[in-house]
Amino acid sequence: MIRIKTLLIYFYLLSSIPVWAQNQPGLRASANLRGLQIGAAVVVDQIRQNIDFKQYSEKIQRDCTVVVTENDFKPMRIWLGEGIYNWNETDFLLGATANSTGWAQQNLMKVRGHTLVWPDDRRIPKWLLDQESSITSDKAKLLLSDYIHSVVGRYRGKILWWDVINEAINDTNTTNPLNLRDSFWMRKLGQDFLKFAFQFAQAADPNVKLYYNDYGIESIGLKATRTRNLVNWLRSQGATVHGIGLQWHIDFSRSIVRGDGHYQSAQQFINNQLDISVTELDVTIPTNGGYLIDRADLYKQVIVYRAMLEYAIYFYPKCEALLTWGFTDRYSWLPEYYKNNRGAGLPLDWMYLAKPAFLEMQELMTGVVVDGVYRLSPQLQPDKCLGASQIGINSIVQLYNDECNKTNQKWNITWLGDGTYRFSLQSTQNFVLGTYNVSASLGHVQTYNWLDNANQRWAFSAKGNDIFRIVPQTAWWKVMTTDGTSNVGIVDYFTSKSQHWFLTKV
Ligand SMILES: *[C@@H]1O[C@H](CO)[C@@H](O)[C@H](O)[C@H]1NC(C)=O
Ligand SMILES: *[C@@H]1O[C@H](CO)[C@@H](O)[C@H](O)[C@H]1NC(C)=O
Ligand SMILES: *[C@@H]1O[C@H](CO)[C@@H](O)[C@H](O)[C@H]1NC(C)=O
Ligand SMILES: *[C@@H]1O[C@H](CO)[C@@H](O)[C@H](O)[C@H]1NC(C)=O
Ligand SMILES: *[C@@H]1O[C@H](CO)[C@@H](O)[C@H](O)[C@H]1NC(C)=O
Ligand SMILES: *[C@@H]1O[C@H](CO)[C@@H](O)[C@H](O)[C@H]1NC(C)=O
Ligand SMILES: *[C@@H]1O[C@H](CO)[C@@H](O)[C@H](O)[C@H]1NC(C)=O
Repeated sequence: MIRIKTLLIYFYLLSSIPVWAQNQPGLRASANLRGLQIGAAVVVDQIRQNIDFKQYSEKIQRDCTVVVTENDFKPMRIWLGEGIYNWNETDFLLGATANSTGWAQQNLMKVRGHTLVWPDDRRIPKWLLDQESSITSDKAKLLLSDYIHSVVGRYRGKILWWDVINEAINDTNTTNPLNLRDSFWMRKLGQDFLKFAFQFAQAADPNVKLYYNDYGIESIGLKATRTRNLVNWLRSQGATVHGIGLQWHIDFSRSIVRGDGHYQSAQQFINNQLDISVTELDVTIPTNGGYLIDRADLYKQVIVYRAMLEYAIYFYPKCEALLTWGFTDRYSWLPEYYKNNRGAGLPLDWMYLAKPAFLEMQELMTGVVVDGVYRLSPQLQPDKCLGASQIGINSIVQLYNDECNKTNQKWNITWLGDGTYRFSLQSTQNFVLGTYNVSASLGHVQTYNWLDNANQRWAFSAKGNDIFRIVPQTAWWKVMTTDGTSNVGIVDYFTSKSQHWFLTKV
């Protein structure tokens, strides 16, 4: 009942918000323009059920180049008994056999596996704990081997990164080696369980990147040092460790600036021949009974999200991805964990609408051109320029080979605030560059009367040295290209110089 009511409110709001806010290019297109990996933790069954009138799955499609399952890959979910597994959710995501695909591949998304071993008795299958007294060390090792080979082997080649171990280090001092937490695995195998897990995972899929994932290590300090000690010990034992997942569950008061303890911690891992990823970002703000106390806090949250994206870009490609833990405040672990006193930590709000933090990240990735009047020339034909055959609408847009100094050969490029730009002829503000038939193998461009629609919006990808890809908003995998010596059109992007343009401010 509550849900039906709230959805009615939701559609009421949707119908009253401006068009641009519904038409975000999204974080996925934006990340693609920058060559970054961005994503979120998801709940497979909510995708499968197309909940909230498909809003849940559609926003993942719009905003993620990578997904990680929030809970569906945890041993408590899939390991039901010795040799007994529940593959329902993970098969939907990845396909049940080597040759079949799942939702993730069908949507061209990369997948992080999370997690093979969470060495904390509260996270270990109950049937295993119940049999603890009758399980010998050798048997425990066999069980661990079976489990990891079954899970990693089943999805071999389909998962790029595995969190082999999650949160093994105790936050307070213990007498355990490597300051490990107590758990079933620790009691049966001592610290060797770490080594076995990494070795079994590598044997089951030699190409997967193997990560250790934890919280509280994003800044320098004892726990970050202990994490490096753990990696060094694993390596001394012959195990391979490729990367460290830094969870980044933080709040809006966190300051992250270049050179600070956060940057130093990332750099120390990288200096230790490790890649890193931001694996579980959320940025809480104070709430009262789940409601925002002060909308201004959303703008403090913006600063933190922007700083996090700048951090990920700074360390790219050693920082392999930035993932948030969920993506809409509607489904998040935070309100329950913080008893509704903190939350609202994600880029989309409870109604799946873009929060200021979302818009800021989108802009940081896509806002690569300064507003102004430009001449556009193909990189391979720099003497030519893009122009309109006449000053008017429905005019052919093509390359010109004269002095390129006419007002219909210069474009006033202006940021539209949503990740895209408008190109209007210098001669007449109202005549703009637009596309039609963009999905054809060769789509078209021409001038249009400005109607503020998606076919008239363009994104850029900066290649450096004033060279750009020019991307239609309605198909971010396509680009404007030259087609012979004078025609231009829209084609699939395949890294050809004929698809690159010089922008010269005039
Ligand atoms: C998995 O799906 C099957 C078929 O829908 C169902 O019968 C079974 O109960 C499910 N298993 C679990 C553990 O959810
Ligand atoms: C899977 O694909 C490979 C290569 O295309 C093929 O050799 C193999 O027979 C296929 N296996 C199944 C179970 O279809
Ligand atoms: C914990 O151990 C570390 C190093 O072993 C030590 O520097 C630190 O003071 C200890 N902390 C406490 C609270 O005992
Ligand atoms: C962490 O260490 C403390 C202090 O030794 C201990 O009380 C606690 O039970 C440990 N937690 C786990 C999960 O091992
Ligand atoms: C381009 O046109 C402007 C104004 O019409 C003129 O001032 C300028 O000298 C021209 N430049 C060239 C290179 O012809
Ligand atoms: C470019 O377009 C913007 C937005 O329409 C307008 O405000 C601005 O005056 C134009 N600039 C020039 C130089 O024509
Ligand atoms: C759009 O492209 C299709 C397929 O290439 C073509 O058949 C159709 O005529 C095009 N439409 C227009 C309006 O050019």
